[in-house]
Amino acid sequence: MSRRSLLLFLLLLLFCMSSRAYAVDEENCLLCHRYSGLGRIDKEGRKHLYYVNESLYNQSVHAKVRCGECHTDIKGFPHGTVKKVDCAAVCHLVDPSSNTPFSHAKMIEKFELSVHGRGPKDKPKQHAEDLPTCTYCHDNRIYPPVSKLAKQEQGIAREILDRCRGCHTRDDWTNVFYYHFTERLNQRRSSKRMVELCTSCHEDEEKMARHNIKTVGTFRDTFHWQAIKYGDPNAPNCITCHAPVGYFSHEIMPKTDLRSAIYKDNLVRTCSNQGGVQACHPDATPSFAQGNIHPAQYKTGFYENKADALLRKREIEKGQMKPFQTLLGQTLKVAAGDQRYYQNIILLLIKYFYMVLIGGLIGCMIVHQVLDYFATRRELRRVVSKVL
Ligand code: HEC
Ligand code: HEC
Ligand code: HEC
Ligand code: HEC
Ligand code: HEC
Ligand code: HEC
Repeated sequence: MSRRSLLLFLLLLLFCMSSRAYAVDEENCLLCHRYSGLGRIDKEGRKHLYYVNESLYNQSVHAKVRCGECHTDIKGFPHGTVKKVDCAAVCHLVDPSSNTPFSHAKMIEKFELSVHGRGPKDKPKQHAEDLPTCTYCHDNRIYPPVSKLAKQEQGIAREILDRCRGCHTRDDWTNVFYYHFTERLNQRRSSKRMVELCTSCHEDEEKMARHNIKTVGTFRDTFHWQAIKYGDPNAPNCITCHAPVGYFSHEIMPKTDLRSAIYKDNLVRTCSNQGGVQACHPDATPSFAQGNIHPAQYKTGFYENKADALLRKREIEKGQMKPFQTLLGQTLKVAAGDQRYYQNIILLLIKYFYMVLIGGLIGCMIVHQVLDYFATRRELRRVVSKVL
């Protein structure tokens, strides 16, 4: 083979290889963005990295979307500052179920109706900057390899993908669709990461106080969290309860909303989670469902947490709630809401009882061991001096 035809052959091979992968970078953005040093420091001193790793990008959920379909305002190079991406933008992909151009617009519409939405256009919510945006919760997710999925979820395996390949002979096409389905057979975030995500705001006392809701830090004191920590696949995370079977992941509603999964009349359904991926409490009764999922945080007399304190203060001012101190002297027959005070005192007493018990036990054990050590030494010395 002559040198020239070898070159031609190589070029052809290269051409074929690249046409098999998705032609994401038709616009040549990676010409510059492939350099890992591309970035800058803004006026506030924050670092921005503008590097895009091509091979990771090609394994991500947006692999088939071209850069310019999201970053729509880039017309020439070098380009200046780039506008924020609108997740409702329509891309070249077509939804095969309806043959319509694809966008997240429908999803955004629903999201806006949830508690995290910005509220009606003419009357936006106060402190809208506290609300999560699409990119707060989502990055450009990478599809995990089949081997990793197979370890986590039943029914997913390399040999099943091989079966698809028996009919669908183009591997990249088959891979993409296999990942597309299997990725969605379960919640993608681990329960731990879900809790981290939601609590990044919902444990922020100031932020939550601005919106008149309690923080949920005590979730980490509950059995549910312990189960998550030790990897129980049935343990519920925030989404399991706040967007259970029958709700889309974004349809989180305030507890006052009749449609909310945590509206008082829907709690039995939520606890039982019939038909859900997680097996929960199929025999839940109304009284079971009244259980306190997010116990309040008080120390006796003091509030541990500013948001709770503010909320209680408002309730007391409105006359809906009696101050704690005046309650202590009264009988237990108080308004239903007040029961929580007593529950918390009992919980705290139990906590302190165990702290003293366990601390005392371990303390005594250490003292016992130390005394035992000296006694043994003395005994040894006595025996040795006798023998000598
Ligand atoms: C000629 C080189 C070059 C090309 C080609 C290029 N970029 Fe950039 N891009 C840069 C540089 C340099 C920066 C940093 C600009 C700055 O600091 O203001 C940047 C920044 C960006 C940013 C961040 C802007 C910001 O203000 O946050 C985005 C988004 C971006 N590019 C997208 C793209 C897309 C999409 C394409 C392809 C359509 C592309 N770029 C092509 C050089 C390039
Ligand atoms: C599905 C839509 C989508 C696609 C496709 C996409 N991006 Fe982005 N990109 C985003 C979003 C969202 C952000 C976050 C900033 C924002 O909200 O505008 C971002 C941010 C960036 C940034 C700036 C990072 C920073 O720290 O500010 C760069 C650079 C960038 N993209 C380059 C690219 C390149 C190059 C491609 C093609 C390989 C690409 N993007 C494809 C949605 C997209
Ligand atoms: C027995 C052969 C066979 C096997 C095995 C098979 N498919 Fe298919 N697949 C087909 C045929 C034939 C069609 C077209 C069916 C139609 O249009 O009604 C199709 C259609 C599809 C489509 C729709 C494509 C479109 O654009 O309309 C997807 C996606 C798909 N298969 C993915 C898979 C995946 C993933 C697997 C493995 C889990 C798989 N297939 C296993 C034969 C097979
Ligand atoms: C409060 C956090 C949060 C916000 C804000 C949010 N999402 Fe989600 N979204 C989730 C969770 C949780 C899921 C369930 C997926 C999982 O982790 O398995 C999800 C699922 C999705 C899915 C389904 C595909 C998948 O990967 O499972 C899409 C698409 C999506 N979100 C798009 C959006 C868009 C567009 C916005 C902006 C309007 C948005 N999300 C805002 C938390 C959020
Ligand atoms: C086992 C189910 C379950 C889990 C898991 C769960 N919640 Fe809840 N959540 C509820 C129920 C039921 C209520 C309403 C009853 C109440 O006030 O205690 C509620 C109430 C709330 C409220 C409203 C508080 C108020 O008084 O306005 C917020 C905010 C909240 N949860 C966030 C979260 C976050 C964040 C997580 C994850 C760390 C989480 N939840 C985990 C069931 C759950
Ligand atoms: C970026 C911050 C942020 C993140 C992340 C976030 N939230 Fe929220 N959430 C808020 C704010 C702010 C409100 C109050 C909205 C309002 O005032 O209408 C709220 C309200 C709620 C409520 C309604 C409480 C009630 O009864 O009024 C629930 C339930 C809730 N969030 C659950 C979740 C869950 C579950 C997640 C994780 C998937 C999550 N949130 C992630 C900021 C956040």
